[in-house]
Amino acid sequence: MSAMILPPMGWNTWNTFYDKVSEELVLETMDAMIEKGFRELGYRYLILDDCWALKERDAQGQLVADPDKFPHGIKALADAVHAKGMKLGIYSCCGVRTCAGYPGSFDHEYDDARQFAQWGVDYLKYDNCNRPNHISSEILNRRMAMALRSTGREIDLATCQWGTEAVQSWIASTGARTFRSTVDIQDNWFSIESIARSRLERLSWSACGCFDDMDMLVVGLNGLSMNPEVNQGGCTDEEYQTHFALWAMLNAPLILGCDVRKVEGRALEILQNKTLIKINQDPACKAPFKIPVYGNDDAFVLVKLLSDGTYAIGLFNFGDTDANVSVELWDIGLTLSSNLRMSFRDCQTNDIVGSSREHFSAVLPPHGSNVYLCALEECK
Ligand code: GLA
Repeated sequence: MSAMILPPMGWNTWNTFYDKVSEELVLETMDAMIEKGFRELGYRYLILDDCWALKERDAQGQLVADPDKFPHGIKALADAVHAKGMKLGIYSCCGVRTCAGYPGSFDHEYDDARQFAQWGVDYLKYDNCNRPNHISSEILNRRMAMALRSTGREIDLATCQWGTEAVQSWIASTGARTFRSTVDIQDNWFSIESIARSRLERLSWSACGCFDDMDMLVVGLNGLSMNPEVNQGGCTDEEYQTHFALWAMLNAPLILGCDVRKVEGRALEILQNKTLIKINQDPACKAPFKIPVYGNDDAFVLVKLLSDGTYAIGLFNFGDTDANVSVELWDIGLTLSSNLRMSFRDCQTNDIVGSSREHFSAVLPPHGSNVYLCALEECK
């Protein structure tokens, strides 16, 4: 078993490609991930979302990969992915049909788990559509969790209940690695803001080892997604930066949703920010806490304790105008009598931009943010 369970990092087909998922796309994306340095940064999972299978099971009741999309089958794809040090994810649903109408795993849990294990799958996104009314999501997820465990292969369970049925109260005990807690993301600021706001009141959900999944990233989609449900306007670079900073600070899975073959410029920089990735992948996986900003309901501060004794501090402005966002270090626990001060290293420039015993502030543009790595030091 893995020694340390951190928020997964990878790429998923859904946000950009919708039903146009294929072996060719996955292999090309894998090459791009390696060439552009994503693999070295920890983005290891290539995840097939919905629409990879045929619309009906075969005569033996098994799922069949669509041969037009996957001419060499899933096993060959998994082998190719493993040969490059990457991992393969697949998608199914605890109902009788997936959300897009393909066969679901209801009452086929053990067949499907065995099939995924034989193919060499490493990760299962498990959706929640078309369920029989009389069985709870909890039971259905416990079933698939047991089915996966019974194969003897280590397959991550990434569940997707959109935050229903008080999922946070039971999900960790199923052994799932992640659970979707929100509706589907769209490529616009409104969607990012509403997902983030829904999380700010329940920051402790994302416990170590079972992470609250805020849905896949839309950074780099730039209003060009082929998925009509996701393609809803696009965001500015500032908004994409804030989106990534929030997901990183909140221990959310970092699953790319863009066309990695084409991503470049600012989007590439955002997705490859080493400090934000380090904060997200910190081994202690502490849930952050929030500090309100006096007199400004659209601004807030997030603080996450890191395992090396430092702090990640994020300043956020959800408002539509510039805002001076200030954090009182008193609110984090620093006292004047400590004779300590806190240094602030900007995550984007990597420069130390300030050091203080009392407060720190920055002027942020609309929907903007800044995250700092902060260390305590003796006052001279
Ligand atoms: C649901 C999920 C999405 C995606 C689609 C596929 O809507 O929440 O993330 O997997 O199904 O049909």
